[in-house]
Formats: sequence, structure tokens, C-alpha cells
Amino acid sequence: VSEEENIFSCKTEQEIHQQRATIESAVRGRVDFDNHAVKLGGIQAYLHEIRRTNRIYMIGMGTSTHAALATQKILTSLTNKSVSVVQATQFIDMEEPIAKTDLCIFISQSGETADTKAALDYCNQAGALTLGITNVVGSSICQNTTCGIHVNAGVEVGVASTKAYTSQYICLVLLGIAIAQDYFSMKDQIREIIDGLRELPMKAEEVLNHKQELKELVELIQERQAIVKEGMTFNTDKSNSLYILGRGYQYAVAREAALKIKEIAYMHAEGLCASELKHGPLAMVQENFPVILFALNDQFKTHAFNAMNQLVSRGCVPFLVITEGDELELENNFKNKAEVPFHFVLPKSTPCLQGILAVIPMQLLSLYLAQARGCNVDQPRNLAKSVTV
Ligand code: AGP
Repeated sequence: VSEEENIFSCKTEQEIHQQRATIESAVRGRVDFDNHAVKLGGIQAYLHEIRRTNRIYMIGMGTSTHAALATQKILTSLTNKSVSVVQATQFIDMEEPIAKTDLCIFISQSGETADTKAALDYCNQAGALTLGITNVVGSSICQNTTCGIHVNAGVEVGVASTKAYTSQYICLVLLGIAIAQDYFSMKDQIREIIDGLRELPMKAEEVLNHKQELKELVELIQERQAIVKEGMTFNTDKSNSLYILGRGYQYAVAREAALKIKEIAYMHAEGLCASELKHGPLAMVQENFPVILFALNDQFKTHAFNAMNQLVSRGCVPFLVITEGDELELENNFKNKAEVPFHFVLPKSTPCLQGILAVIPMQLLSLYLAQARGCNVDQPRNLAKSVTV
């Protein structure tokens, strides 16, 4: 047992804390920070072909699909192509018409997920250009795709995927850059992202140092759930629910956070697009109902603040995740300081990378919730690390 292992209560906790290093490994040898360029050995020979494709599909299951969702916007912007994110099973169920001119990206930590492999077979039969993003060299998805990118996160033991997710996310951003970097019009955008990547490991470390605030948040969530349960006039077990809301880039973070909480803390959590609230989910909301809302400093901030006011006007004050520098703006939303809700402050990154810094505290939150509820974090009930059937 190494010294590092002794510090952590379980593998998942250790893997969450390895993310400074795994973020560095995802970019090492691939990003030239001085010249703002990217070189991905596994796809280099196919770049020309990749650029000539018409549409992009990103396909996976669970957390791997969330990595696709998190990078859909930046890939669309960098490649100027239509980019779809589809769950592998849904992709087959819908009998998606695939052409030789499509690029189909298969994202899988294990490279062995049966549903994702089935979708890959389907695309190979259609003659599409297939690209694998996996964490296991030599896995089935590695072998059966035309080209690929290895995420380099090291072995992931915890059933809940944490470090592999952030590395998949980075690899997808790097893929977008590799496709776009020959176009002059993309230079400024690429420069900004690569500068963001340079600072990302240090900022991830910064986030990992804010454990105490997240432990406080666990207590606050549990207190609220108890109050809601106590005051319930109807019989429902939904009193242990939690909403996590995001928009734009942060929708994926909300979905991923909710999956992590369900998976390891056995608590009902729903990751929603904040704009969906008034189309149904708002009915569940009452005073003290626990909600986490991402209101980060990007083009979606105003929408997020609107969602906050929508909740507050119904007596439900959400827990917020905001970006550094926005503290005053948040305070100004409230008449007196005592009303300002709990807020976790993230270091600022470029918008398309902010989701990496935003997901880390959610991974820690799910870990602390799981520990507070006495769950087996590394081996959640009913689940397997790799779903091969
Ligand atoms: C993530 O925490 C889950 N264990 C699960 O959703 C997982 O991401 C999914 O089963 C896909 O696995 P893969 O990435 O190995 O294909």
C-alpha cells in the first residue's frame, strides 16, 4: 500500500484527488503551450479525413455520455459541424441513419461497455469513420475503431467514474482543437483554450482544497431534507430528493453530479436544465427543498440568476456554485447580507473548461454524502465497473 493510498478512505476518494495529475497526463506531450498547438498521435494520420466528414456523433453510456454533453458546444463551435450526443442504446433503438461521411466518436472508460460496442458495430457496418476515446489500451473499442485517443487517466478502480470523466472531457476538447487549428479564424479561440488548459491542473488542485465547505453543504442538504420530510402532508419518499440545475455548459455537470450522487450515495438526485423548471419540476419545489444551482460566469449566467430568483420567490433558496469575482453581484441580488445563500466559489477558467472545475466539487459532494449515509463508495450495490452484458 503506497503512502498516497493511506491518506484516503477509499479508492474513489483517491481517484478524485489524482485529478491534478490526470489532467496533466491528458495534455502531456500533446499540447504545445508556447505555440498554441495540439498534436494527437492516434488520430494524426486521419485528420484530413476527419475534417472532411459532414456530421459528428458522440456516443457512450452514463458518465461517458456526460463527457460528450459537456463538450458538445465547444466541438460544434470549433468544427463548425452538427454535433449530436446520443446514448449508445438509444442510437441503435432509433436506427439512426449513418453515412460514410459521418464521424462517430465512441467514449468509454473501459472500452468494453456492451451497449457502446454494439453501437460501434452498427457504425462500422455503415462505413462511418469511427474514433475511440478510452482509458484502456487494447480494449475492444480501441481495437475496433479506425483511430483513437487514449485518455491516460491510469487505472480507475472505483465504480463511479471520476478522473476518467475529466480526462475524457479534455481529450474531446483537444480533438476539437486538432480539427480546427489549421483555420486562421479559429486562432484566438484556440489560444484562449490552450491558455486555460495550462492553468487547469493548478486550479483543479485549488478546488480540491475546499473540502470543508462541501462537508458543510452535505449537512445543509441533509438538514433541509429532514425539514421537508417532517412537514410533509402526503406520503412520499421524495423528501430525500435533490435538484441540481445548470444551463449551457453546466447542464452536463448537473447531470453528472446527479448520477454520481445516485450511484454512490443512494440518494435521489436529478440533474436538470434550469430552463426546464417551469415545465414541470418546479411543482416539487417548496420551502427548504434542496437545490444546487450553477450560476457561473459565462453567457448563461443571467439565465441562471433568473432561475435563482424564480426559486427564491417560491421560498426555496438554492445552494449556489458561482465563479470567483461574482460574489458582489450575488450579494447585490439580496436586500441584506444574511439572505445571501450558501455559495461555493470556483476559480475562473475559459467557459468550455469551466465544467471540469465545476464537476470536481460535485464528485467530492457525492463522496461526502455517501460517507454520511454509510454507503460503500467503491462498490455501490447493484453496479459493476464495466457493463459488459
Ligand atoms: C459512471 O460513474 C458509471 N459507473 C457509468 O455510468 C459508466 O460511465 C458507464 O457504465 C459507461 O462505462 P464506460 O465509460 O466504461 O463505457
